[in-house]
Formats: sequence, C-alpha cells, structure tokens
Amino acid sequence: MLICASHERVIPRPATRFVIALVFGLALLTWVASLVVSRTTRDWFEKDVGMRAQLAVSGVRHGLLSHWKAEDGDDLHALLTELTRDERILAAAACGKDLSQLATTAEFPEQFGCRSIGVHVRQAAPSGLVFVPWKTVTSLPGGKVYVSAIPLLDQEEAVGFVVLVHDLSFIERREASVRWFLIVAFGFSATAAATITMFAARVSWHEWRGEIQRVLKGETPRPEFHPLLQDVLDLGERIAAERQADSERGVWTPQRLKQALNQYLRGERIIIVANREPYIHEHTPGGGVTILHPASGLVTALEPVMRACSGVWIAHGSGSADRETADAQGHVSVPPGEASYVIRRVWLSDEDVRGYYYGFANEGLWPLCHIADTRPVFRSEDWKHYQAVNQTFADAVAEEVDIEDPIVLVQDYHFALAPRLIRERLPRATVISFWHIPWPNPDRFGICPWRHELLEGLLGSSIVGFQTRFDCSNFIDAVDRYLESRIDRAQQAVVQQGRTTLVRPYPISTEWPVRWLETAPSVSACRAGIFAELGLPADALLGVGVDRLDYTKGLEERLLAVERLLERFPALCGRFTFAQLAAPSRTEIDRYRQLNDNVERVAARINERFGRGTYRPIVLLREHYEPPAVFTYYRAADLCYVSSLHDGMNLVAKEFVAARDDERGVLVLSQFAGAARELTEALIVNPYDVDEAAAALAVALEMPPDEQRARMRSMRAYLSEFNVYRWAGKMLVDAGRLRDRERLIGRLTHMERAT
Ligand code: F6P
Repeated sequence: MLICASHERVIPRPATRFVIALVFGLALLTWVASLVVSRTTRDWFEKDVGMRAQLAVSGVRHGLLSHWKAEDGDDLHALLTELTRDERILAAAACGKDLSQLATTAEFPEQFGCRSIGVHVRQAAPSGLVFVPWKTVTSLPGGKVYVSAIPLLDQEEAVGFVVLVHDLSFIERREASVRWFLIVAFGFSATAAATITMFAARVSWHEWRGEIQRVLKGETPRPEFHPLLQDVLDLGERIAAERQADSERGVWTPQRLKQALNQYLRGERIIIVANREPYIHEHTPGGGVTILHPASGLVTALEPVMRACSGVWIAHGSGSADRETADAQGHVSVPPGEASYVIRRVWLSDEDVRGYYYGFANEGLWPLCHIADTRPVFRSEDWKHYQAVNQTFADAVAEEVDIEDPIVLVQDYHFALAPRLIRERLPRATVISFWHIPWPNPDRFGICPWRHELLEGLLGSSIVGFQTRFDCSNFIDAVDRYLESRIDRAQQAVVQQGRTTLVRPYPISTEWPVRWLETAPSVSACRAGIFAELGLPADALLGVGVDRLDYTKGLEERLLAVERLLERFPALCGRFTFAQLAAPSRTEIDRYRQLNDNVERVAARINERFGRGTYRPIVLLREHYEPPAVFTYYRAADLCYVSSLHDGMNLVAKEFVAARDDERGVLVLSQFAGAARELTEALIVNPYDVDEAAAALAVALEMPPDEQRARMRSMRAYLSEFNVYRWAGKMLVDAGRLRDRERLIGRLTHMERAT
C-alpha cells in the first residue's frame, strides 16, 4: 500500500436520492398492479364470454331442435351461421348424440370436431349417456380462443351439443391497453411526485437559508425557527470563539501550556503516576553514578510537559543508584541542574516487580492489547501484586498532594486500578488516565479474568484518554459489554453511579522543537560520524531502526524486508546498510529472550548471505543508546523504517521527522502504528508483506531530493502544530472545564440542600 489513491464518488443529494427511490418504487408498483389487473379482467371476460355462449344457444334453441330432429343439415348450417353473426363467435358446430358432426360453419377448426370435444362433454352415468357443459381456453395461430360445448336439451334429455369457438384476442388487446394506461398513469404520478418533492425541497431549503441569513443579519426569524437557529448560533459562536482563541495563541509551546495551566487549572501542580521514571541513576563499573534516559515513548512525551508545568512524577525507582541519589522520601529534583520538577521514587520488592511489572502488566496486559500473536498469560499471583502496587502508588499520590482537588495524570496499562484507588483517597481530585497502547476489542478484552476490575478502576478517572478514536470506541464497547453503566455516546462518556468519565482521543506526540537538536551536530557531521563508526564508504546508503527489543515492533519482519530488498536489487548489495538500534527490554520474560535470539539469528543469516569483505548489510546494535546518540543516527540516515505489528502511536516515527531539520530522509512506516494516521506523507506499508516493504525501501532509497523535501516539510509542519504541548494542553483544558462544571454542580447541589 505505497500509494493511497482516493476515488471521488458522486454521491446524489438527499432530494435526488428520494426521487430515484420514488421512480423505482412506482415502476415496481406499476408492474405488480398490471399483473393483478390483467388476471382479474381475464377472469371477468372469460365468464362474460361463457354467458354469451349460453345465451346465444338458448336464443336459437327451438330452431335448432326442429332442424335437429329432421336432421336437416342445410338449415342447421344456416342457424349456426346465424350464431356466428356475434362478433366474438368465430365458428360453430352441431354434434349429434352419437358424436356425429351434423353441421359446421365454414372454417370451423378441425381440432374442435364433435369427436374430440365429445370426449369431454360425455360422461358415464347409470341412466346412460348424458352431456355436461364444457369449456376451455386455448391458443390458435390467430390468438387465444374460448371453446364451449353446450348440451342441447329436449325436455330434459340431451339430443346433442353445440360447439362454439369464441374470439378471445380482444382480451389481450384490452390487457395491453390497460397496461399502457397504468404505465402512463403511474409515470405521470411519479413525475408529478418527483417534481413536487424537488420543488418542496428547494422551497424549504430556500426558506431555511433565508431564515438563517435573516438571523445572521440580525433580523428576527419566524417563531418556529427560533430553537433551531438558536442552537446554530450558539454552536457557531462557540466554534468561532475557540478558533479565534486557538489562532490568537498560535502553536502550543511550553509557555502556552503553562498559561493554559494557569487559566484553566489555577496553576496547580501536576502529579504524574507512571511506572518508568524519566531519569534513572545507575552505578557505573568504575564506581561512579550515571544518569540514563530510558527508551520509552511515554518518557519522551511526558518529560517536556513536566518541565513546562512542574509538579511531581511518581515512578518506580528502578536504577541501581536510585536510592542513594534520592532523599528519605524518595524525592529527587530533575532535570539535573535545572530542578524544574520532582521525581518521587516508589520502592518495590523484587516479588512486586516480578508479579506487577513482568507478570500482570507485561505478560498479561501487553499481549492482550497488542495484536502480535503472543498469548496473554494471567496468573492470580501476579494480579495480587498488580493490585498491591496500584494501591502503593495511589497512597504515594495522597502523600504528595497539598490540596483536596489535585490534578493527577495516571499513565498507561501499569495503573488501570489506580484511578479508582486515588478517587477513594481524594474524592475531589481530577484524574486523567492515558492509555499509551492500543485498547483491544471487547471479545479480546474479555479474555482477562479481571476485566471488570480493570474497567471499574479506569472509570475512577475524570477523563480516560487513548491514542485513537478507534481505541476509544473499543473501550466504550467493553464498558457497554461488561459493566452496568450508562453510555452517553453523544458526549463520549460513561456514567456510573452519577459520576461521569469522559473518553477522549489525544494522539500523543513529541516536543517541538526537540531539545536534543540544540546540541546536535549538523546533518553532514552526523552522517560523517556514523559512517566512520560503522566503517561505511561515503557513497553508502544507510537505513535505521530504533526500538526496544519488543515483539510488537516487527523486528524480524523488518530484517526480512531488507533481505528481500537485497535479493531484488543486487546493485544495493555492498551499498546499503541497515543499522538497528535495539535496546534490551523486559529480558526477564521468555518471549523477549526468544525474540532476541530470533533477531540475532535472522541478522546473522542475512549477513552471511549478502556480506562480503567488511560489508555487513545488517548492523545490530543491541544496547541502550542515550537520546543524543539516537538523534545522530536519525540525522545520518537515508531512511528510517518503523515496522510495528501493532503500536499505540510510535514516537520513533515522529522523532525521526523532528530530527530532520534538513528536510531530507524518508520515513517508511507501518500501517499498524497509530502514527500512520497522522504522518500520511510517509511511505505506509504492511510490515507483514515483506515484498511490499522491500519495494517501499527501494522507493525510499531512490526518492529524489525534491520529493523527500516535500514529504518531510509537510510532516514537520504537522508535528510542529500537533506537538506534545498540544497533547497535554488539550487534556488539561478538558480537565479544567470538567472541574469548573463539577464545582458548579457541587455549588448547585449545596444550594439545593440548603433551601
Ligand atoms: O508503549 C507503552 C510504553 O509504556 C511506552 O511508553 C514505552 O515505549 C514502553 O511501553 C516502555 O516500556 P518499559 O517501561 O516496560 O520499558
């Protein structure tokens, strides 16, 4: 799916759709009506013809009898000819008792001779032979005829019978005329109805427009338009005010975020609850202490927000030197040298880390939420630790706050229970939870034995945020399926025991501009440095991948795409190198160790197959790289391939774009990463389709500089606006509005109680 073509469809307007439906409906009705009418009229006409036959024969009965007995063929012929004067009687025959043919009119059809018809009119009876009336309709070359045989009675005794052949073709003619009449009548009514509908639609649209224009000019509309126009006006005013405010303030920056915090939240401190801390103190082999920035999208996004807003970041103190660098309460001011905010480290036992982090969070919830073919494992022992750690963090929040209604941002799947636990301790807190990873569909979510508890826990939040609208609907569907609650789909909210939780998409992003660029060398210096480090010639082409070693990132598929590229384009062999920065992650879990081995094996096989001399197509760098080094790789590369099999957002994709202030380099991006919905100028691929991905890599390497620039410029413009300050700002503004509303409701309830 390299190119997304959009096909313009002509969609008929509602009035036109109505007219088309009307015409089809009337055509169908005409057809059914003509069927019913022809069947009924045919019955009537046949009965009519039958009666005429009886009447005609009774009119000449006496004459017939006298000539019958005399067996006077000529006179019988004359009488029969007399009968055929009736315009509908075509021919007649007189048949004796013994089925002999006494007389016929000229051109009497032979197939209706006395013997063949007699079979039908003669019936065996105990008293001998009797005749019964008989009739049939049959087709002759000239059209349909009605044949009737009428017994001729002389004092109750039948002396023979008369056969009459009637012309029925007039019925067909009449049916055809009726059908035409119906078609014309229905056609006329359809045209009339369609014209009236179009006319009415136009008139009412005119009227609506006229009324709206009148209101916009400040005139008073007709009374029946008042409620609707008021709604339209309110909405218009609201949108205009928000647009105005948005455009006046321009793009979101750390300053604007601070202002929003002051305006909507009275400058309150923010409390973040997240498993991963933004600064990890680690012992070095030399006996010193170093600070690490973890490879985490969550940290990448939230750290700049905290620097802008200040507050407390409550996290698991996981570094080997974390305790000695924090005070007795686990506090440490960061960033080092700037002290914009505080990390509150929570100390967890090894059992807790095994059960809560490795077990329930990463062997249970992580595979539950990602479609990457790894089965979730749920153990009750892990669940107990998960509950306990969530309680520990909720307690830490209560210890850190200095007001009754703090703003608490709960991050990710490690803390699904914390929002409710925090609310129990701090009922007036504004709790915003953000789920960084995808939310599964209700069937898959139902796999989890503690699905109710997880949902109940999250619904302790004032707002639950997700990366995409799709995740929001999955969450709402899960609540709808598993909990007693009221879903307000218009407001995108869940109401439980009178408390409302808003469910909203807030696509996460990076800071803009990225602070690591301030000190980054120029693109050419980065390129020269990395090429020297990897031993690449100046005309080499470089691709990069930057990930934690996680099975959701599609690392094996990525390497296979490189292999296919080299198979299909042998000229790239010796020229193209793919450097994969793979930070070890969750190594206590078997599945991650397996992944590590698989990636290593695939890389070794490809290098064996295509390597020559010192050339290795794959450079696998399995270690943690600090952000400045990662940005050097981004800036040195010709392309970056993000091949996630399923990913909430993937900030590597956004970081690569942010890193390329030279507007060069191509992003090849998996369609299964949330970022693909925003970075549409990337080459979007299905990572499972190795051929497609290889083709995209080839396109990226061949892409002319102008096209690279155009794509990069557009993605950078987007990211400069939709940056992480906007992400946080939108959440905080929504939270501020919610707090105002809750305060107002609180005041009203208070007043109601007082009166
Ligand atoms: O995507 C979820 C997430 O929390 C990211 O923010 C981050 O990239 C990753 O998981 C970090 O994982 P861990 O904290 O387990 O190393």
